[in-house]
Amino acid sequence: MNVRVAILTASDLGSRGEREDVSGDTIEEMMAGMGWELAVRDIVPDDSDEIVSRLKYYSDELRVQLVLTTGGTGLSPRDVMPEATLRVIDREAPGFAEAMRAASLAKTPHAMLSRAVAGIRSSTLIVNLPGSPRAVRENLEVILPALPHGLEKLCGDGGDCAT
Ligand code: MTE
Repeated sequence: MNVRVAILTASDLGSRGEREDVSGDTIEEMMAGMGWELAVRDIVPDDSDEIVSRLKYYSDELRVQLVLTTGGTGLSPRDVMPEATLRVIDREAPGFAEAMRAASLAKTPHAMLSRAVAGIRSSTLIVNLPGSPRAVRENLEVILPALPHGLEKLCGDGGDCAT
């Protein structure tokens, strides 16, 4: 299955060029390891409207199968990624965040600070990941084994998927 992926980093500092997007690099490397195609990669400030507009563009215009976001899932006032994601999805897919938090809790109690959500808009699965490169790797490796089957199902048994 040819999977096209969008990567979205939410970071006020990163969007102003004041911090390198190492977390985005980590996701990109891990997607390349799966043999999946990077359709687009962006960095935006921690602003709900900007995030919503990017997520809609990836799903409605680019029609990617998978969007991975990084950052903005914590408790600080500027952390709005889960709320922005909930604004665009049609259906929640809570198992991804449940699995990531459960596995991450074995590594750090700080795992419970991530409010990450996951869900589906049309034929696109959107999954929030926390912001640090280490957290990205530790969370993404938990869900990778289930993603190929999940993305196949998302396309429908008739293969009715955006390409
Ligand atoms: N999950 C794993 N596996 N490893 C981590 O280091 N960091 C946590 C948590 N999840 C972490 C993790 C921390 S410190 C925070 S604040 C939250 O993710 C939210 O991160 P974010 O606000 O950068 O999205």
